[in-house]
Amino acid sequence: MNNPVEKLIKEAAAARDMAYAPYSKFRVGAAIITRDGRYYTGCNIENASYSLTCCAERVALFKAVSGGERDFEAIAVTAGTEEYCTPCGACRQALAEFGSEIKVFMSNKHGDYLVRTVAELLPAVFKLDTPDQAPANQNT
Ligand code: THU
Repeated sequence: MNNPVEKLIKEAAAARDMAYAPYSKFRVGAAIITRDGRYYTGCNIENASYSLTCCAERVALFKAVSGGERDFEAIAVTAGTEEYCTPCGACRQALAEFGSEIKVFMSNKHGDYLVRTVAELLPAVFKLDTPDQAPANQNT
């Protein structure tokens, strides 16, 4: 297997086997690759307090970042469905923190994919232009 995209998608599919999704039963896997070729994988991790659920993409990204990585080439995501699995808005924003040119491979169960950059997926990204601290109830 020497196609790097195929390998990234296979890593995502393997990570999906670890999904903890007892509530939605919707299992997702992701794999992110750094510019110098290191892989980190993630699966979705749900919680009885539903809003605490973390998506596969963010698990992979946060594992990588906590391992000291900052430069990413691409991420693949799959839910093992007929549809291409696209990252949610929160994951798009989380990825954008580390680069708008990261490629996102959105795969289906057959290993077919759509690819877009983070900038394409999140055109009006939130950026923190730290304001001077204003007093309460004042926006200026
Ligand atoms: N989920 C992901 O892990 N990634 C996505 O891109 C979309 C949604 C998870 C969150 C939740 O565990 C389940 O899929 C259903 O929303």
